This record gives sequence, C-alpha cells and structure tokens, in this order.
Amino acid sequence: MTSDVRHIVIAVDGPAAAGKGTLSRRLAEHYGLNHLDTGLTYRATVKTLIDRGLPLDDETVAAETARTLDLSNLDRSVLSAHEIGEAASRVAVMPQVRKALVQAQREFAKTPAGAVLDGRDIGTVVCPDAFIKFYVTASPEVRAKRRFDEITGNGGSADLPTILADIEKRDARDTERADSPLRPASDAHLLDTTEMGIETAFETALRLVDAALEH
Ligand code: C5P
Repeated sequence: MTSDVRHIVIAVDGPAAAGKGTLSRRLAEHYGLNHLDTGLTYRATVKTLIDRGLPLDDETVAAETARTLDLSNLDRSVLSAHEIGEAASRVAVMPQVRKALVQAQREFAKTPAGAVLDGRDIGTVVCPDAFIKFYVTASPEVRAKRRFDEITGNGGSADLPTILADIEKRDARDTERADSPLRPASDAHLLDTTEMGIETAFETALRLVDAALEH
C-alpha cells in the first residue's frame, strides 16, 4: 500500500543535530509527502525580529511576527546559521509564539498528500494523532561533531567545544521549558543515531512505516 491512497502524517522529533531533518526529507521524498521543518518557523520568526531591529524578549511583538509568517517562503540557507538556532530557542519558550506557529503547522499537516513534520513537539502537541511518530536522538558529542563538520564542510569556521556547549544549552532550554518541552511521545519509535548512523536510521524508519501501512 502506498501513501497516495490515504492521508498520512509522519511526526519526527528530537534535539538539535540528531539527524531528524535528513531523515524527514528522505521520508517525504520516498512517500511523496510534503515536508515542513518546523524549526525553520521559529528561526524565521527570530530572523524577522532581528532584521526589523525589534526586541527578542517581547512576547507580544514576537507573537505578532509569528502570526504573519509565510510558511511557503522559508529560506533554509538564510535561516540555518547556528546563532539563529540559539536565538530561536529563546522565542520558542513564549506560549503566544508557540500558539501562532503551532496553528500554522497544523494547517500544513492537513495538505492533501499528507506530510512529514519535524521539530520538538510534533508527536506530543502539534500532531498527537500522527499516523506514525519517531524520536531521533544521539549523544551531545556526536551531534556537536556533526554540526561542526557541516559548518566547516561549507567553508565556515567553528570551534567544537563552543558548539557542544551551545547544543547542551539549547537541549536544556528545549527540555526544561514549561510549554511543550522536548520529550518523546509515549507512542514514538526511538531512533538513536549515535551508533547506527543516519542511513541505518532511515532504513529502520522505512521498515516501520511500511509495516504500519500494511495494516
Ligand atoms: O530544529 P532547529 O534547530 O531548527 O530549531 C531551532 C529551535 O526552535 C529549537 O532549539 C527549539 O527551541 C525551537 N523549536 C521548537 N519547536 C519545534 C521546532 C523548533 O521549540 N517544533
């Protein structure tokens, strides 16, 4: 059975640089689904605030910015900077910002072909009834090394200990916030990419989705 006979939502959550973006893109490609990296919605909110010279700590202003975001116009190359991710996790603690972005993300999930959404709270809050859920994780050291390789591979310069410290700070902020903290949904399949690598994680995920589609 293939995805075009029913509308399916695949939820992929996990901490920064665990491999959930790659996994999600490949799942979307394989099953012909739309893909939304919900981290980009938080990043775009903070980038818009910075570009307009607006404060990052005013919830009303940040929520208004989040409400006017155009999801069809999220430029990964502009938003991927490590510092934007760090700043995004600050506005992500604001309930009004989350409310606005979650609403837009749920609309995206309804698109006819079905969708893969990745983030921190997809399986727990955004799409609790998702067809299948994955929680992708890896040790902070492995995630920091991946981020380091990505930055230096693109010709940038980076300091591994600084990246590791940032990742640990971001993990703490994401898991300890009161609204929608990062945690696996009780019915999520856990994929630890510390040892298995992203390719094996993808193959494991394919088997699980195919098995679910059989039912
Ligand atoms: O996944 P990415 O690193 O792009 O996310 C940036 C930040 O946005 C995360 O550290 C997190 O604070 C926030 N985020 C979130 N909920 C999501 C996606 C991202 O709180 N669904």
